Amino acid sequence: MTILLSTGIWPVEDWLRPLAKLAPERRVVVAGRDDYDPAEVRYALAWKPPEGLLASLPNLATIFSLGAGVDHILTDPTLPDVPLARIVDPDLTMRMTEWVVLQVLFHHRQTFGYMRQQRERHWDEIRQPAAKDVRVGVMGLGVLGRDAVEVIARLGFDTAGWSRSPQDLPGVACFHGAHGFDAFLARTDILVSLLPLTPETQGLIDRRLLAKLPRDGALGGAVLINAGRGGQQVEADVLAALDDGTLIGASLDVFETEPLPKDSPFWSHPKVLVYPHVAAVSDANALTRLILRQIERVEAGLPPEHLVDRARGY
Ligand code: NDP
Ligand code: OXD
Repeated sequence: MTILLSTGIWPVEDWLRPLAKLAPERRVVVAGRDDYDPAEVRYALAWKPPEGLLASLPNLATIFSLGAGVDHILTDPTLPDVPLARIVDPDLTMRMTEWVVLQVLFHHRQTFGYMRQQRERHWDEIRQPAAKDVRVGVMGLGVLGRDAVEVIARLGFDTAGWSRSPQDLPGVACFHGAHGFDAFLARTDILVSLLPLTPETQGLIDRRLLAKLPRDGALGGAVLINAGRGGQQVEADVLAALDDGTLIGASLDVFETEPLPKDSPFWSHPKVLVYPHVAAVSDANALTRLILRQIERVEAGLPPEHLVDRARGY
């Protein structure tokens, strides 16, 4: 009944501590550090595990992604046919909603402009539209997208969402599928991505998509906020859109290559806020209890909650 931890660049001690506190009776081993018998591992808790690691565990019962996304696991071509569960937890959801709201308000309240004015010691009012006149569109109406869009709607913005299947959210104009996409984009001043990375969403935010965003909205152009995955944005196209005025600003938490290379133009771009993939970090203290509860379900003969549909890719 061994638990194997593989946490990528995340400090493994952060996860070992709450595991030892909440489940002292369980044997927990760290991939790449501890000696263990692969046949004894029943549960793998993984963030960006090395390719082949999960395939080396012949008696694996469940794989738990340590984040909400699972692209970092599904891209392993040797991934065994074992149930894969992901994080759905109020702590993670609240962190993401905080970040998205912060970015929407940052751009809505002209913060780049006031930062520039402060540098120049210049005292002036920048024209401020009302929230009801600013259209916010959230791509991805899953656990994270729904919560964020509901809070943004409560702040008074004119909100919409886009998903794969039809959704119904009070106060939010809902669009879905390829046929609903252009109408969604045409009414979006601030575009937020909370999509998973799948073959369908790879490279979605490209020149063609950006050209469909209105230039005549209340903010005088469109804003891109991406906390989904960097693989969804074609970065050369995002930069071109920033430079030709299609985009008046961007908040990017995720990038095609992470860490963002030192020579990326995003670092010093005056219209871009760069975050190092921290919109909603997985807090081990908050999430370990959830994972242990899922393990108890499996041991009681029940499926874990929040299972991933591998055919859909999320
Ligand atoms: P969910 O699986 O709950 O929701 C995914 C949403 O995306 C659903 O609404 C789904 O549609 C929609 N979707 C998927 N594929 C398509 C498509 N091809 N076209 C249109 N809509 C699509 O995921 P979460 O909300 O929990 O998480 C979303 C993503 O956020 C994660 O996969 C991860 O990449 C990212 N994330 C980033 C973090 C960060 O710190 N930057 C932290 C946590 C997550 P439908 O409703 O029809 O199924
Ligand atoms: C996640 C992430 O998927 O942190 O949870 O990116």
